[in-house]
Amino acid sequence: MIHDPETLRDRAASALLAARARTHTLTTCVDEPDLTAQHSPLMSPLVWDLAHIGNQEEQWLMRAVGGLEALRPEIDSVYDAFEHPRAERPSLPLLPPAEAHSYVAEVRGRVLDVLEKTPLRGDRLVEQAFAFGMVAQHEQQHDETMLITHQLRRGPAALTAPPPPDTSGGVVEAEVLVPAGHFTMGTSSEPWALDNERPAHHRLLPAFHIDTVPVSNAAYLRFVEDGGYREPRWWAPEGWRMVCENNLKAPLFWRHEGGEWLTRRFGVTEPVAPEEPVLHVSWYEADAYARWAGRRLPSEAEWEKAARWDPRTGRSRRYPWGNDDPRPEHANLGQRHLRPAPVGSYPEGRSPLGVRQLIGDVWEWTSGDFLPYPGFQAFPYPEYSEVFFGGAYKVLRGGSFAVDPVACRGTFRNWDHPVRRQIFAGFRTARDAGPEEA
Ligand SMILES: [Fe+2]
Repeated sequence: MIHDPETLRDRAASALLAARARTHTLTTCVDEPDLTAQHSPLMSPLVWDLAHIGNQEEQWLMRAVGGLEALRPEIDSVYDAFEHPRAERPSLPLLPPAEAHSYVAEVRGRVLDVLEKTPLRGDRLVEQAFAFGMVAQHEQQHDETMLITHQLRRGPAALTAPPPPDTSGGVVEAEVLVPAGHFTMGTSSEPWALDNERPAHHRLLPAFHIDTVPVSNAAYLRFVEDGGYREPRWWAPEGWRMVCENNLKAPLFWRHEGGEWLTRRFGVTEPVAPEEPVLHVSWYEADAYARWAGRRLPSEAEWEKAARWDPRTGRSRRYPWGNDDPRPEHANLGQRHLRPAPVGSYPEGRSPLGVRQLIGDVWEWTSGDFLPYPGFQAFPYPEYSEVFFGGAYKVLRGGSFAVDPVACRGTFRNWDHPVRRQIFAGFRTARDAGPEEA
């Protein structure tokens, strides 16, 4: 908890500023036709995301927190994500790129005034500058969405970044034993945690083993070359249907050419890097691989215990490495790099039990459905999380290289359809421990 209002204002303002710098990069590195085009029916035109970011900021920070009059009330419906599925967004009367840029800048100017004038206490929406943190996370999440659009976009590369440092090495054991017992899941104290991460509660888990590192391309390739995509016994029935209907043979963006596996990344074709975590696999592919390997996906609670539980105190940390905010040596976050680091990297980000790369690099599919924690309360509105509970969504944890630290915690929960492949998702596997190990 931060008690000094000026420190809170600084924190909120820099989170908003960082998000806007990234939005700017993602929406100025391509030309106007690229901004208004729909690069995939799965995605919105980039210019929709841009104005939607501003419209949400207008609704929450200008109007709800600041009590200011609406700037552009007539566009609320165009940028309502629930009203318009992605496929139909190109046909909406969208603000043209220049107008969208000036709209988001105008909203931001007024929001910075609101931040200066709002007493950051008394109301849950503004306590600890929550609404500002929520809006900064929202913008960063759309930045990740826009990065996915860039990945799906055809044409020459528009973005570049240096590769992550290779700090892999020193991983001795393929898996780690997490002993049986209680641990604290979720949070009641993290100021900017979203409703679905709350409240903190105890979970009792039997002992289990979990992979020290995410599943690599080399490991996944063994499944591919062992005929994994031709063998129904490894697949959940709906997963097998997905393989057959789409004639899937490998992760999205892979192709086999001239005796080698290639992948396309942000406009550049390159050989599949064996040491990197596998990326762009659906939940069904992760589930099938795990079954082929004689293992299973970890449950969401197992993932979080492996990431946060400290055997020396019995408490749960904010992050695997401790309670400090992420630094570059901890994890591959924030689009500093446009790819995951080799498996085994980021030794300084490992958990107390020695599990690596839980935060950053690739989102990790877990076995579980997206459900509320005991004692869940929708905040600030049911559409944030509640309407998704119990739907056909699987939970992803840990964040990818495309996730900003402000939108990533040991408790952070993401969810998506089990067929999704364009997201920056991979996985690690787990297995039950034997009775003698518990
Ligand atoms: Fe949104």
